[in-house]
Amino acid sequence: MPPRLSFAPVRNFAKQGNLTRRMSSQPKVYVTRPDVDDSGLELLRKRCQVSTWNETIPVPRCELIREVAGKDALYCALTDKIDKEVLDAAGSQLKCVATISVGYEHIDVQECKKRGIRVGFTPDVLTDATAELTLALLLATNRRLFEANKQVYNGGWKSWAPMWMCGQGLKGSRVGMFGFGRIGQEIAARIVPFKPAEITYTTRSPRPQEAATVNARRVDFDEMVCNSDFIVVCCALTPETKEIFSTEAFQKMKPNCILINTARGGVVDQKALYEALKNKQILAAGLDVTTPEPLPLDDPLLKLDNVVILPHIGSADIETRKEMSRITARNILAALAGDKMDAEVKL
Ligand code: GLV
Repeated sequence: MPPRLSFAPVRNFAKQGNLTRRMSSQPKVYVTRPDVDDSGLELLRKRCQVSTWNETIPVPRCELIREVAGKDALYCALTDKIDKEVLDAAGSQLKCVATISVGYEHIDVQECKKRGIRVGFTPDVLTDATAELTLALLLATNRRLFEANKQVYNGGWKSWAPMWMCGQGLKGSRVGMFGFGRIGQEIAARIVPFKPAEITYTTRSPRPQEAATVNARRVDFDEMVCNSDFIVVCCALTPETKEIFSTEAFQKMKPNCILINTARGGVVDQKALYEALKNKQILAAGLDVTTPEPLPLDDPLLKLDNVVILPHIGSADIETRKEMSRITARNILAALAGDKMDAEVKL
């Protein structure tokens, strides 16, 4: 455990001189986003000297490397790559890296472990928001909402027509969950009222209790890709899941298969996905995550009608993001004080 730091409230230091002395003894925190909710930053400002990057684009790497020097904690986001170079630049006093995200593949956690740096993240709080967005994306994709909406504006809507803008319903379908953690389980629970024929899940180890709540059957990856009408990707990005949705996987899918990904773009081989969508090897895809992010405006995926792309907004619900900001701040304060964090990555 790192040594416990004591925090005196700022109000005890009315005089400017005292305040300056107090400030210099406060732990220093660098925040890589100016646009996180103020309630989190306020928590930090009561006890720490906080400096922030001031633009709403991700902090340039050279700036991050300059600014992190001498800091006790780093408040970062998934847009920041926190690797050995950044940790070296920070210096040995760095005690905590806290990310305002559930995913932490942008942080070299092994390097943090070696240096005794604690890593905070924000699981759980965003589970419902992400599950809700996944359902919204699934329904927008299978019922072709964006394609249909365009027709209203571009004159394509001539009259009601029996088979025009028809999609593929969830009712009676086979839904495969790739990943069945907290978010996957909540997505599955929201799919159940749509009356699918079966929900299956693919995970490294069985989760019988969680699966029982939605009557899901565990299958291997091959069975899931071969038999599903919908595949929902909700796993972490790891060396095992990287580009697991490859040309070979798409070739095995049914031509009516719809792929939904709200996890990480890296789980899908995007070139292979493009080919599969263009050649109608699969029916459609809904993506809240891509490689890279943002997706360049000339990316070929943007030319296809059978794909719905969102700009990584899975957890973007106001209260969720506010709480993520506060949890990240509390994680930092706890790490600096040697206390239990709200959510700490097990290293
Ligand atoms: C979003 O993708 C997150 O990891 O929180």
